[in-house]
Amino acid sequence: MAEKEVIETSEAQIAVHWKEEGYYYPSTDFIAQANMSCESVYDRFSLDNFPNCFKEYADLLDWDEYWHTILDTSDAPCWKWFVGGKINASYNCVDRHLAKNKNKTAIHYVPEPLDEKYEHITYQELYVRVNEMAALLRDFGGLKAGDRVTLHLPMGPELPITMLACARLGVIHSQVFGGFSGKAAADRVVDSGSNILITQDAYYRSGKLLDHKKKSDEAVALAAKEGQKVDKVLVWQRYPGKYSAATPMVDGRDYFVNDVLKDYYGKRIDPVPMNAEDPLFLMYTSGTTGKPKGCQHSIGGYLAYVAGTSKYVQDIHPEDVYWCMADIGWITGHSYIVYGPLALCASTVIYEGVPTYPDAGRSWRIAQDLDVNIFHTAPTAIRALRKLGPDEPAKYDYQFKHMTTVGEPIEPEVWKWYHKEVGKGKAIIVDTWWQTETGGFLCSTLPAIKPMKPGSAGPGMPGIHPIIYDDEGKELPRGAGIAGNICIQNPWPGAFQTIWGDRDRFVDTYYARYCKDPNSKNWQDWPYLTGDAAVEAEDGYYRILGRIDDVINVSGHRLGTKEIESAALVAVEVAEAAVVPMKHEIKGVEPDLYVSLKPGYEASDELAKKISGVIVEEIGAIARPRNVWIVPDMPKTRSGKIMRRVLGAISNKTNVGDVMTLANPEIVTEVTKMVQG
Ligand code: WTA
Repeated sequence: MAEKEVIETSEAQIAVHWKEEGYYYPSTDFIAQANMSCESVYDRFSLDNFPNCFKEYADLLDWDEYWHTILDTSDAPCWKWFVGGKINASYNCVDRHLAKNKNKTAIHYVPEPLDEKYEHITYQELYVRVNEMAALLRDFGGLKAGDRVTLHLPMGPELPITMLACARLGVIHSQVFGGFSGKAAADRVVDSGSNILITQDAYYRSGKLLDHKKKSDEAVALAAKEGQKVDKVLVWQRYPGKYSAATPMVDGRDYFVNDVLKDYYGKRIDPVPMNAEDPLFLMYTSGTTGKPKGCQHSIGGYLAYVAGTSKYVQDIHPEDVYWCMADIGWITGHSYIVYGPLALCASTVIYEGVPTYPDAGRSWRIAQDLDVNIFHTAPTAIRALRKLGPDEPAKYDYQFKHMTTVGEPIEPEVWKWYHKEVGKGKAIIVDTWWQTETGGFLCSTLPAIKPMKPGSAGPGMPGIHPIIYDDEGKELPRGAGIAGNICIQNPWPGAFQTIWGDRDRFVDTYYARYCKDPNSKNWQDWPYLTGDAAVEAEDGYYRILGRIDDVINVSGHRLGTKEIESAALVAVEVAEAAVVPMKHEIKGVEPDLYVSLKPGYEASDELAKKISGVIVEEIGAIARPRNVWIVPDMPKTRSGKIMRRVLGAISNKTNVGDVMTLANPEIVTEVTKMVQG
């Protein structure tokens, strides 16, 4: 008790009011088939056994030369894993499976239009296509190990084929999310120093064939202004042999990949043995300020980590059909559509389009058609599916054994719908907390070992040892009931190596805050700052409250935006909720609440009052929102995250800034009109 009182005086505390949910247990059937069902894994991966425990993950891979040093800390905090090892990621994801599984489907591709057939690409076909593309990149593109190439590809098999072709040569790929603008692509071309840009002419989204090629013209022009010349633009065609974009091809610069590939028919390229710590790819992520950060991921450490976590957390077996609905343009897609599953010789599903196109049953029909049994998506998609078709899953004959949620905290109400309706009460759920920077999962339950708890990500992964600090750097013990800054005490193989070209920013952003000695070469002195706020329950489960910046301080009480939003979702009418701080003379700030409703419900003053009442009931009067704005939709990023910054600007009548990269910029005008009159 005494300990708790001391901690409660800290500035770092966030009042955590939300109730602990009860446990849900995996079925005996699930446990019987699980890849990891032995508790002792947590001992094997304890801090005492660090870093040697990660040999287990490295041994899931085939090495051209085995490594000699598991962790080299001499350049702290730029850690090097599996030093001395030589390896090729393309070989590990393709070639090594041929002997036994050349005939197995590697990729099930589902085009968005209903009248187009699914494509099933075997490992043999993947091998052929990756080799021919690698030959093209090397001999036509002039690319060699260590060069960077920017990809701006939509969801289709060409994307992993291009990634694996790069990996085969040791070329560092930097894929830009297809939905991003030409400007975003240009920024990444410049930062990474790419002189080749690989794109596609067009792709489907919500029934429309979008001209994607025009973005590359914009990207090339903008990059040139910044001094980065793009020599070649390689254009895959959505329909090989037919050009589906309106923008003209530029002579001597733009080439159709399908045409050029004909010159490389039958070519085989030996996978280049790379150093384990050479970079595999860059993945740009935006912070709250400044230009996007190019997170540099290694070959050996990253691949070992995503293979291990795909096996033990995703529980992928050779006979499973695995569908992760993320876009490959995000880290989730890199780690858990492409590299992790393919390293395990899985069958992975790639869907081109929108999960609710042309209706809310589409996703479940895909699951039924392919007999998908492992499903992976984000709370934003779950909320959308729940909003548009709460009763749809029951209409289709599929059964998931396993489901994942990733990307933001999931409200317990939404979790329960996912479990009951999508999982039909049988699938286990893992809530995986991690980041672009971390390569793979940080916290999650191991599905056959730890029970689930709605709203909690669970304990640290084996070999990941989280710690929560307050603002003074004092450790907050488990069960303290207050939240702080969650850090990871130790390095792990999946962690990014640095920010491309900006080591100082890397150290400042992620390590400076709690570093015990900047000259130290001991990993113990360098806790990794995730930038998230979290609370650790008595049972060692972590509940993530969101980014540290998303905390609202009302009259000196720090409230997590997520807990207020979760409370709003207790009202049955509410589909989505977003809370923003609104300036108040006395309280500092007050929460201002935005909600959207499930179909069939109408906005009214009574309903707004009811929602406000639910929040007071769940959390207390301190959290009572100033207003409850019932809006038709939330402003969202292309990856589906609600843009609280934009809503905050609307509430506070400040500049909303550039909203053109949002998925739905038009909603900003509409909401502004509603709020500001
Ligand atoms: C948030 C996505 C709660 C968190 C893999 C993190 C989550 C940021 C969860 C990284 C989760 C991700 N529960 N919050 N299961 N997963 N987050 O880089 O704030 O796109 O720091 O990586 O998303 O987002 P990123």
